[in-house]
Amino acid sequence: MTEQTLILVKPDGVARGLIGEVLSRVERKGLTIAALKMETVSEELAGAHYAEHEGKAFYPSLIEFITSGPVVAAVLEGPRAIAAFRQLAGGTDPVEKALPGSIRADFALETQFNLVHGSDSPESAKREIALWFPEFAQ
Ligand code: CMP
Repeated sequence: MTEQTLILVKPDGVARGLIGEVLSRVERKGLTIAALKMETVSEELAGAHYAEHEGKAFYPSLIEFITSGPVVAAVLEGPRAIAAFRQLAGGTDPVEKALPGSIRADFALETQFNLVHGSDSPESAKREIALWFPEFAQ
């Protein structure tokens, strides 16, 4: 079944010149880039996007980080797109969870600075696509 997912190349990925690397892996996997843009994230969008983490110890620094520079946001489409991108990304902790060969394992060292985000469920994907691409939401 074709799915949509929302992905981000976070400020660390943009600053390190990894936009092409991430999008190349997405395309080589066979996922379709259905929408794509670069923007600097407002406090409001950052808070809405990461609402589920509000109250956690890392939340303030996560908001500071995600608003610190431009991000690339994209809607990907394809069969099992949500799980497919999460496989490409690797686990949240780039050293202890991400499998070798994943984006995070190959290029990141710290959990906060883990380069990319991908929706974790169909419900998150719907919510996040509506936040980032209101014109694109179904
Ligand atoms: P992401 O997949 O975007 O979802 C939430 C983000 O919070 C996560 O990637 C990391 O960037 C960050 N994060 C999650 N857990 C921690 C943690 N323990 N310490 C610091 N940052 C974290």
